[in-house]
Amino acid sequence: MKRALKLIGVGIGVLALIIAIALISISASDIPSYEVTKIDFKLSSSPESVARGEKLALMLCANCHMNPKTNKLSGKRMMDAPPEFGEIYSQNITQDKTYGIGNWTDGELVFLLRTGIKRDGQYSPPYMAKMPNLADKDINAIISFLRSDNPLVTADPTPDTPTKPSLLTKLLCRVAFKPFPMPAEEIPLPTTDNTLELGKYLAHNLDCFACHSADFKTNDYLNPELSPGYFGGGNKPLDLQGRVMLTSNLTPDKETGIGNWTKEEFINAVKYGQKKGEKALTYPMMPYPQLTDLEAGAIFEYLQTIPPIKNKVERSVY
Ligand code: HEC
Ligand code: HEC
Repeated sequence: MKRALKLIGVGIGVLALIIAIALISISASDIPSYEVTKIDFKLSSSPESVARGEKLALMLCANCHMNPKTNKLSGKRMMDAPPEFGEIYSQNITQDKTYGIGNWTDGELVFLLRTGIKRDGQYSPPYMAKMPNLADKDINAIISFLRSDNPLVTADPTPDTPTKPSLLTKLLCRVAFKPFPMPAEEIPLPTTDNTLELGKYLAHNLDCFACHSADFKTNDYLNPELSPGYFGGGNKPLDLQGRVMLTSNLTPDKETGIGNWTKEEFINAVKYGQKKGEKALTYPMMPYPQLTDLEAGAIFEYLQTIPPIKNKVERSVY
């Protein structure tokens, strides 16, 4: 009996040792790398694509990459990244050849934005956005803008501070977070006369669904509509002080969602952060003044057609 216990004890000891060695080697190693596919991308730049790209980048990139000291997309410490992910810095994406992306090819940028795999093959965890469903035209617009003479992206020699991912991030990158596939076919941009398609496209690709569904962890980024609690709110992004900011229910439920809102109220909330009779919306719900009323209105019309979810969310007020 004693001998059996002793053997079990030795067994547990060996197991603990194996786990410890595995954790130490994961922590010493880096985030996994993947094969880089060379993308043959022909940039088609025009004043229109640069303007569209600026608008998209202000909504999709600036929040994370804008450095308040340089007023350029030269990167910063991400104060609202969950601390358990480590110390996260967005990188310099100006045209500087040493510190920015001046030496990246357009194809390398497309591959990163679509899949999350950087030019050296390293996977970029979820603290860097990915655009698996953005229309090809909009990807082209964003890259046109990054290559333009817009002062937000002209070369700035601010050195990158490398991100220090935690053991948890490294572990999750081995078991849960995986690159997205490169889209097999062209993704079309909905036309402005197809209101519901346009609204759905924006609600998915401006990441509204990601914050406004139940949980980042259970979101389906390739098929947003399959995300549990799709637009039912209650997700917990952080503000710049690291406090939870519960997201609102945007389904058409009349009591707990926006079923009783008018289109004008919605447009004012989304474009300017205004709420009738209440404190303005706060970070991380950034105003989207770049949207036209037609675009913000299209998001509203689309949201009125999705399944209502009864989920009362109290506003986080600090
Ligand atoms: C949620 C925050 C966030 C958003 C939104 C975001 N990024 Fe990033 N980005 C990051 C972080 C953090 C890194 C560093 C990732 C790492 O260390 O693996 C990064 C890295 C990058 C890199 C790699 C740079 C390098 O030198 O390795 C490029 C290029 C990039 N982002 C472009 C963009 C573009 C273009 C957009 C908008 C379409 C965008 N990012 C939106 C946070 C973000
Ligand atoms: C980074 C996360 C995030 C993203 C992305 C985001 N939101 Fe929000 N949103 C929030 C949070 C958090 C609140 C609550 C803010 C508050 O209480 O001050 C909110 C509130 C709102 C409200 C107010 C609803 C109410 O009942 O008061 C509307 C409308 C809204 N968001 C629409 C949108 C739309 C449309 C998009 C995409 C264009 C979007 N949001 C993208 C986090 C986000």
